Amino acid sequence: MSEIAKIELDGKIFELPVVTGTENEKAIDISKLRGQSGYITLDRGFKNTGSCTSAITFLDGEKGILRYRGYPIEQLAENASFLEVTYLILRGELPTPVQLKAFEERIDNHTLVHEDMKRFFEAYPAKAHPMGILASMICSMSTFYPESQDPNRSKEAFELSIIRLIAKLPTLAAMVYKNTVRHPFMYPKNDLGYVENFMYMTWGMPTEDYEPDPVVASALNKLLILHADHEQNCSASTVRIVGSSQANLYASVSAGISALWGPLHGGANQAVIEMLEMIQADGGGLDKWIAKAKDKEDPFRLMGFGHRVYKNFDPRATIIKKACDDILEKLGVNDPSLAIAKQLEEVALNDEYFKSRGLYPNVDFYSGIIYKAMGIPTEMFTVMFALGRLPGWIAQWKEMLDNGDPIGRPRQVYTGETVRDFVPLDKR
Ligand code: CMC
Repeated sequence: MSEIAKIELDGKIFELPVVTGTENEKAIDISKLRGQSGYITLDRGFKNTGSCTSAITFLDGEKGILRYRGYPIEQLAENASFLEVTYLILRGELPTPVQLKAFEERIDNHTLVHEDMKRFFEAYPAKAHPMGILASMICSMSTFYPESQDPNRSKEAFELSIIRLIAKLPTLAAMVYKNTVRHPFMYPKNDLGYVENFMYMTWGMPTEDYEPDPVVASALNKLLILHADHEQNCSASTVRIVGSSQANLYASVSAGISALWGPLHGGANQAVIEMLEMIQADGGGLDKWIAKAKDKEDPFRLMGFGHRVYKNFDPRATIIKKACDDILEKLGVNDPSLAIAKQLEEVALNDEYFKSRGLYPNVDFYSGIIYKAMGIPTEMFTVMFALGRLPGWIAQWKEMLDNGDPIGRPRQVYTGETVRDFVPLDKR
């Protein structure tokens, strides 16, 4: 017999179905509660609210488990290519060699962006933040591909939008980078792999030969995999809710990029490096900053620390910390930020404030140090996160449509004025 939950309101008992996931996660389905009782549930910031059922990513925040389509993140990060993981996240199964080759070839055919898009870059101020440009560029893609306007139009048109996005995001991200350093854009070179092509378009110059460094390529591949999906995070939820109004995929992903930009979400990777550099410039002492982070009157927080769902450790941070040591050693980079980051981690992990609240380094704590070692400007870090998160956004958007989820429209508890009569201007 299926499980039910009972809730007593105004002396009446209401029965609510319990939904159980494949990993035995339990949820009380309250969708009919208001119709039956007049009550809604209130959960600011959705701390305890499931917005959907999903078969893409499983994570257990207490145990530090993260799996895409059932495959542990550690195994994927160690063994797979980013496009293999993209295929897995989108289609639900690992590709065979033939399927992967066909997928890669299809993406290679769509890496160029429309020449007219180059002109947009001329209009941005020199100091424009790369995330602002990227979100606008992705939304603008919908104007170049009007057939993408209706998400239900045809399976082929929909598939093509997905391929175009995956193919063109690295090209656009590299153009955003070139724009920030005022270097000429590089056209994609499609005999290179997905990550290597992005490196070529980012660091290559028309006047020089460029060979992507395999150490950097492998580290980037790993970072992209670690960011590829993270179930119902702020940006994925944004993509789903925008898409639930049947806005097209480009518009929905553009909204996801905007949500990612914030320093409490993906923008934390930029904020971490800025914080570490600030601590270094301040003399490197940590006590002051730890005290500020604990002071509730002070807005300062330890960036790269804490997570809504991980309360013991973030498995992505464990992998990144090791990758960070490896790549800095291989590239021969000696970054004082890394030493400060390690000391900060050590101090915070032994501090009762952080321990009692389950605050640990998250994925963004060490990723910025790797990006910095690769020579990526700080303001581009969140663009790197967006490159990695794209398959997750697309898969979440597609699943939302395939599941026939209704338009996302939360309710509220109104706390404003009750009804009152309008007072004419001359009487106020
Ligand atoms: N520094 C100091 N105190 C903190 C921090 C921090 N980084 N994070 C949380 N706290 C405290 C917070 O003040 C609260 O204390 P109290 O219970 O005394 O009021 C308690 O810990 C719980 O925090 P919360 O803000 O209620 O937790 P949340 O789930 O709403 O927020 C978070 C999660 C990630 C937004 C938050 O931990 C934070 O702001 N971290 C810094 C920004 C950051 O690194 N974000 C990247 C997240 S991982 C990448 C991604 O997937 O987006």
